[in-house]
Amino acid sequence: MTPRFAATAVAHSNIALIKYWGKLPISGNYPAVPSLSLTLDALRTRTRVTFDSQYSQDEFELDGKRVLERPLQRVSSLLDAIRSLASLEYFAKVVSSNNFPTASGLASSASGFAALAVAATHAAGLNLEPAAISSLARACSASSARSIHGGWASLDAGADSANALDSGQNWDVVLIVAVTDPGPKAIGSTQAMIRCADTSPYFAAWVETAPVLFARACGALHHRDLDALGRCMEESTWRMHATMLTAVPAVVYISPITLAIINEIRSRRSASVPAYFTTDAGPHVKVLTMAEHAAAVRSWLTQIPGVTDTIICKPGPAAFVETPVTEGHTA
Ligand code: PMV
Repeated sequence: MTPRFAATAVAHSNIALIKYWGKLPISGNYPAVPSLSLTLDALRTRTRVTFDSQYSQDEFELDGKRVLERPLQRVSSLLDAIRSLASLEYFAKVVSSNNFPTASGLASSASGFAALAVAATHAAGLNLEPAAISSLARACSASSARSIHGGWASLDAGADSANALDSGQNWDVVLIVAVTDPGPKAIGSTQAMIRCADTSPYFAAWVETAPVLFARACGALHHRDLDALGRCMEESTWRMHATMLTAVPAVVYISPITLAIINEIRSRRSASVPAYFTTDAGPHVKVLTMAEHAAAVRSWLTQIPGVTDTIICKPGPAAFVETPVTEGHTA
């Protein structure tokens, strides 16, 4: 029998209410701004990692398809960091599946790299604290550092790892995803962030003002003030998209349907049915409301032409290992 080390992990996607957009101008993939997110129960990635002495290269399969080039390189860079920590020389096979559209602004890289970091560290026999796993994930995809934690999480500007703020179990909020188009996004977030930093005249203002908005949002979360938190989320969303729209060439993730959904939320919400929107590196819209209003808000969304699906998401769990290290550690 050949040496083989395997583990499977599950991680849930997270959506930022206060956005991470932009990197510090140093190597290592550190965020330029602080972010605040909610991990979502309904959007998950399951990943199995097998290190095997028989493999001659890393392989990555996502939703049943072999993946090559840049996505494979990103996976290999995380595996390299873990191999180096564990003094392990074997290549790995990574088999991953998402229960939602990949690479379309539904934070698949967040759950993807979180699940990979948890599965690969366990398969390699490393027994790391969440902070160390979050740091490994952050180096590949900063948003994935937050998906190591359940519920509410934050990632400070320049931070190595994300913070767990609150499990999310004591406040009945939901984020409803209005899916508009499952197609892949036109430009990856890393490239788009670099373009915004290099060319948008608004980027410096975005970085300068983000900490104040983040602090306001953390205060609103602490007081469970949905209205204040929702308003901070919308401000962060518009400011992020302002840097995108003013980049050269412009980075346009929002579509006419995105705007139609936003307009609908703005015109239909009220003191009795509060609802707040956000949108990321894709055309989908996510709407924050209380669980008791989920059915009403979903009925607004399903009536909008171009909305193909709605997914009601509650606060989700931290990333976890589904099976312990298996399949024999020795020859
Ligand atoms: O970690 P990345 O490269 O997938 O960046 C994602 C950035 C946004 O989703 C747009 C915002 C965020 O904070 O998640």
